[in-house]
Amino acid sequence: MDARLLKIEAARAALSHVESGTVIGIGTGSTAEEFVRLLAAAVADGMAITGVPTSERTATLCRELGIPLTTLDESPHLAVTIDGADEVDPDLALIKGGGGALLREKIVASASDRMIVIADETKLVGSLGRFPLPIEVNRFGLAATQRAIAAAARGLGLEDRLVLRKAGEEPFLTDGSHYIIDASFGLIPDPRALSNALHAIPGVVEHGLFLDLASIAIIAGKTGIKTLAV
Ligand code: 5RP
Repeated sequence: MDARLLKIEAARAALSHVESGTVIGIGTGSTAEEFVRLLAAAVADGMAITGVPTSERTATLCRELGIPLTTLDESPHLAVTIDGADEVDPDLALIKGGGGALLREKIVASASDRMIVIADETKLVGSLGRFPLPIEVNRFGLAATQRAIAAAARGLGLEDRLVLRKAGEEPFLTDGSHYIIDASFGLIPDPRALSNALHAIPGVVEHGLFLDLASIAIIAGKTGIKTLAV
């Protein structure tokens, strides 16, 4: 089964967790987009759902496919958010932000009763850190912020290879007009300590470690669907 079919299978399983009449968070990325396509078909069949998109990219796709949207300001409490991930560990700690939407994704997931992660089995890891951690930073003081991130990593005994994400020749800009630093720290034995250290740096807007947010992960593999829950 190819990767796209696995993403569709995970997205299909997540749809059964969505109740008509609710407002839901809608994630970003190729797996979340498969969910959007299935959700659009359900809406066309009569499901009454309103979505809060986690990125402009997701908002555009939802509009194209006829999914009604609202904002978190109008609906600050969501039943569930369905989103992809770059890595999922056995405790459902995540790395997210490969698509650059981590800030809105984290705000939306935090406003939801449940966050359900959808992914193919390549995203499941024993320990986070193979995928570089996306860190959203303010453009002001970039070099100082990079220096502080590297020092924090070394203080925790981690590697400190930092790369400013580019879109062509220019730095990639998030929906909030911030930069993204992709940080290769090596394996992250204590994600909580790293999260706290990064949050202590003023130039860090948010990072892609999602801890205690996901309650279910639906993982599609060649032998079927595996559901992990905490
Ligand atoms: C976007 C994300 C995505 O959920 C993550 O990058 C996974 O994307 P994909 O489903 O395309 O592998 O965090 O910011």
